[in-house]
Amino acid sequence: MSDTLSHSLAGRTILITGGAGFIGSHLASALVGDNDVRVLDDLSTGGAGEIPDDAAFIEGDVRDRETVREAMTGTDIVFHEAANPSVERSIEDPIESNSRNIQGTVTVLEAAREAGSRVVTASSTAIYGAPETLPVSEDATPAPSSPYGLEKLTADRYTRLYNELYDLPTVALRYFNVYGPGQSGGDYSGVIGIFLEQARAGEPITVQGDGQQTRDFIHVDDVVRANIAAATTDAVGEAFNVATGESVTINELAEAIRELTGSDSPIEHVEGRPGDIRHSRADVSRAERMLGFDAEIDLEEGLQTLVNQ
Ligand code: NAD
Ligand code: UD1
Repeated sequence: MSDTLSHSLAGRTILITGGAGFIGSHLASALVGDNDVRVLDDLSTGGAGEIPDDAAFIEGDVRDRETVREAMTGTDIVFHEAANPSVERSIEDPIESNSRNIQGTVTVLEAAREAGSRVVTASSTAIYGAPETLPVSEDATPAPSSPYGLEKLTADRYTRLYNELYDLPTVALRYFNVYGPGQSGGDYSGVIGIFLEQARAGEPITVQGDGQQTRDFIHVDDVVRANIAAATTDAVGEAFNVATGESVTINELAEAIRELTGSDSPIEHVEGRPGDIRHSRADVSRAERMLGFDAEIDLEEGLQTLVNQ
């Protein structure tokens, strides 16, 4: 990612929950050179090897009040990434997902209130469910179609409430579908990591349902930029879409990955997923206007660099 933006946050003490995971570890790597970075992660899906050497690592659970309180001491900013990020897992085990995504967020916000630390929370496009119009703006009526979406909506609203009630500087970032290096290709991973792994192994590329569902894919470097902008903005108490404003169908994505990897993998349609969002594309104007954030990497360029790695 561009050096200019990562250097715009310097000399701070920063806690990244979920910093051993896909997005959190990219954030930690971008910030560790100029800041004192701590990572709190229970390694449930993340890996300790992803945490940059110069970051302090605290192995623990964001639902544990004492652990979070201690980890938060003396911090200026917390980026709250720790969660169950999988829609599928939330459907299989809603109680566990609810606890990680809601209890975890309230525990982080409460500790931040005590420490006086700014909070930037990872929210999601999943809160919108099936929006009435596309592109979807932040003012759309949320209609989550999975426990995950409902949990993220609650976390998003709690984040705002802590600003309204306690005057804590908070921002919720509604990421759309994030991809990039380091996204593992396991069963519960994002679709791009899965398709790449399948294409490289010459295995069938498994499109769930008719493949006409759409997603607005954003590169993780852009998500890091959005977080840095949220860490310094005056527009607190707000929620912002973090996306490109463009979308593709999952069929188009499967084709593009097959072509870019030169793979012979067949594209195989398998059963669709319950709770799956049909269409997703963001109105990105609020983030542009108020955060000064604009995604820089389009899907074609992002996929090309990913394949070349
Ligand atoms: P990830 O699974 O790679 O990272 C999540 C990290 O949180 C992991 O390292 C995991 O071990 C840790 N974690 C989970 N529960 C924890 C707990 N109770 N205590 C401490 N650590 C815990 O997922 P990701 O894709 O990097 O997602 C990061 C955040 O962004 C999540 O909040 C997710 O909901 C949100 N998000 C992701 C996407 C996407 O497309 N990847 C899109 C929208 C929102
Ligand atoms: C993802 C994120 C979630 C985030 C949300 C925002 C992960 C694991 N989940 O969920 O944290 O809040 O974006 O939209 O990163 N698909 C296939 N074949 C596969 C896998 C997936 O066709 O093998 C399809 C799915 O049916 C879905 C689409 O690809 O329609 C995207 O799936 P996925 O990458 O899991 O993302 P979301 O469910 O959107």
